[in-house]
Amino acid sequence: MKVGGVIRVPGDKSISHRALIVAALAEGASRIRDILPSADVHSTAGVLGALGVPVPPLSNDVTVVGRGARALTAPLDDLECGNSGTTTRLVAGIAAALPFTSRFVGDASLSRRPMRRIADPLRAMGARVDVAPPDGLPMTIHGGHLHGIEWRSETASAQVKSAILLAGVASGIDVTVHEPARSRDHTERMLTALGATVLVDETTVRVAPVDRLAPLRMRVPADPSSAAFLAALATLADDGELAMPDVCLNPTRTGFYRALERMGASLTLDEGEPQGGEPVGTIVARPSSLRAIDLGREDVPSMIDELPLVACLAARATGTTTIRGAEELRVKESDRIATVVANLRAIGVNADELPDGMCIEGSRHALRGRVLTHGDHRIAMAFGVLRALPGSAIEIDDASCVAVSYPAFWDDVSRAIVS
Ligand code: S3P
Repeated sequence: MKVGGVIRVPGDKSISHRALIVAALAEGASRIRDILPSADVHSTAGVLGALGVPVPPLSNDVTVVGRGARALTAPLDDLECGNSGTTTRLVAGIAAALPFTSRFVGDASLSRRPMRRIADPLRAMGARVDVAPPDGLPMTIHGGHLHGIEWRSETASAQVKSAILLAGVASGIDVTVHEPARSRDHTERMLTALGATVLVDETTVRVAPVDRLAPLRMRVPADPSSAAFLAALATLADDGELAMPDVCLNPTRTGFYRALERMGASLTLDEGEPQGGEPVGTIVARPSSLRAIDLGREDVPSMIDELPLVACLAARATGTTTIRGAEELRVKESDRIATVVANLRAIGVNADELPDGMCIEGSRHALRGRVLTHGDHRIAMAFGVLRALPGSAIEIDDASCVAVSYPAFWDDVSRAIVS
């Protein structure tokens, strides 16, 4: 199999959500270019519309007119968050600051995901938050009159951190978050670009009270989590090389590429001009022989969404790969430890679950079997990379769930393979 060409993968999902949310809080017309038009980002657009900030259809040049947090209005209906944890948790921070009641709902997967992690700090700030037992959606927030907080988060979660920071911004109060390890920092970068005072000290972030945010002008860089699948495909190919320009190279997001290099991959990351406070550059990936790797807790935050893909690459590496310190995978769009291990076994790979990760034994034999995605986009794409390899006979039960983050994924895989 030979790969070739230049593929600009779609806009970063985390940054796209934040661009819309921050534009809704700002005063004036924000212009966002190259936003990701995926199902998750549509959820954020719909929820903001329900809160009184209409978002036009998601094109590559979107203008959102904000009038400050106080201009947001009570939703007439439930806030439908679909499959999107980022929509739910980030908008929950804003809802907690507003003097009305909002009820968040989502699909079956999202409804099972833990919300106490945001409910606890938002309650500590003065909001009333009711989560459905044991800990999920629907979630009802009665907001308003928050007070400043210094919060110690138990998990390195950018969604938890961002919920607290956005609650602070929407209320004009002082907030500080301590994390056990540094999670992705797009919210901090964007708030800084719009004039907020954001103080970062290793794993602590403080946002000082803000009166108003200036409108955002940003071009959304390509998503390193989406580019990861194509980089993996190129690494497993026999010939050629694949270039992916304009990718966000924020170090809180590029752990996958560091791990892939440790596995022996031939990669080039060439940084160019920053965009909207984010480092951006071109990634070139080439065929390589991979060896197993051990990943631990310190590796996890900067590659949390890429771990299913690492596990799939490990199935083609020499030796046994171990991933530990990754219990957060159990509360993603699916239980990604159970889902990945079951699917690897289903296609003939030896793999075992650990409470906080997994072990995967690499092999060279052809991969054959049926993959159950549980509607999880990253499972579909990670196994989609293995399906594209010569000799594979892998069936994927729901290939359409890639629409959550990368609607054109299957087309881009076909384009990347030149022979
Ligand atoms: C995200 C944060 C991460 C990540 C998710 C997107 C974000 O979740 O897994 O895909 O945009 O803030 P956690 O904050 O739960 O780690």
